[in-house]
Amino acid sequence: QELQLNLEQIEKGGYDHFMLKEIYEQPDAITDTYRGRMLVDEGIIRMAGVDDNIERIANAKRIIIVACGTSWHAGLVSEYIFEDLARIPVEVEYASEFRYRNPVIYENDVVIAISQSGETADTMAAIKLAKEKGAFVFGVCNVVGSSISRETNAGAYTHAGPEIGVASTKAFTTQITVLTLIALKLAKYRGTISDSDFRYHLQELDRIPAKISKVLEENEHVKIIAEKYKDAPNCLYLGRGYNFPVALEGALKLKEISYIHAEGYPAAEMKHGPIALIDEQMPVVVIATRKGHYEKVVSNVQEIKSRKGKIIGIVTEGDEAVRELADYVIEVPETMESLTPLLTTIPLQLLSYHIAVMLGKNVDQPRNLAKSVTVE
Ligand code: G6P
Repeated sequence: QELQLNLEQIEKGGYDHFMLKEIYEQPDAITDTYRGRMLVDEGIIRMAGVDDNIERIANAKRIIIVACGTSWHAGLVSEYIFEDLARIPVEVEYASEFRYRNPVIYENDVVIAISQSGETADTMAAIKLAKEKGAFVFGVCNVVGSSISRETNAGAYTHAGPEIGVASTKAFTTQITVLTLIALKLAKYRGTISDSDFRYHLQELDRIPAKISKVLEENEHVKIIAEKYKDAPNCLYLGRGYNFPVALEGALKLKEISYIHAEGYPAAEMKHGPIALIDEQMPVVVIATRKGHYEKVVSNVQEIKSRKGKIIGIVTEGDEAVRELADYVIEVPETMESLTPLLTTIPLQLLSYHIAVMLGKNVDQPRNLAKSVTVE
């Protein structure tokens, strides 16, 4: 038993929990994801699974993304990227709903299944159905040789390394990285992106790991915020555009490991319901980076303020407007809009981690949850 404990200590590499270790691994994990694939100086992205099937994928009339949990959130982020860059219509589906809905699937559809474990039963069933109907199925998995990676027609691994914490962290950001690379490749092939814009995307993606390291330096500051709000019974997360799925993911992280009820919402939808919940007890985490509907989000922040809600803003370095209104802000470096989720996710992971630790919860193995859900 003692040996077992020591072994686990070694595996955690000096961190108190796997989740924290995995949060901190993200700069390296993302680098591993694009290493060898993205050649910044040459302006090339090489991905065998995409290159070998480029015509089939790039000429898809529609991309349907199927996934569960955090992977579904990565799918939502990539919907914005695929439509924005490659101009292919995208639908993002919960695998469990898709498989039982008698969905319309055409032979020229491309289905992308996203799964960290590659073993999720609903996602597996969804791709079997899609294959039966003649769609081309592409997998984005982390675990090499997993069931889903074997069942798909082609795929790209995330190369995040083993993820032990049940709450997914580095799997999420590396999924977004892979999907960004695919979207860029398709955009280039379809001629929907200029050469200079393509190169600029590669350069900016290459700067993301260092920028994440910078966000991780905010850890102590995030701890102070966690201490302040750890006893809140509810928490609301808001974001728009690319950062709407990040709000969903931030809320999921808090629910999963701290058992605090949290909801993510598109910021503009607040007025259609959640605003009724806002009072001086309610912490609201607002993602308000400079690129992406900034003014509109600031006006949402004002609405929260006037109802006495507590505001935690995730903002771009040097921000002034949100800082003035918010109780706390966490700064992230500037980047292009489509890449902001890779930065804004980090403080939300840290926030939920610290709250869960302060509440004495089992961070790596939260109650009732499993790392991979292989049954319905
Ligand atoms: C479980 C895990 C989540 C994960 C989801 C999908 O619920 O606890 O962290 O996001 O399954 O798993 P997958 O392996 O398919 O990405």
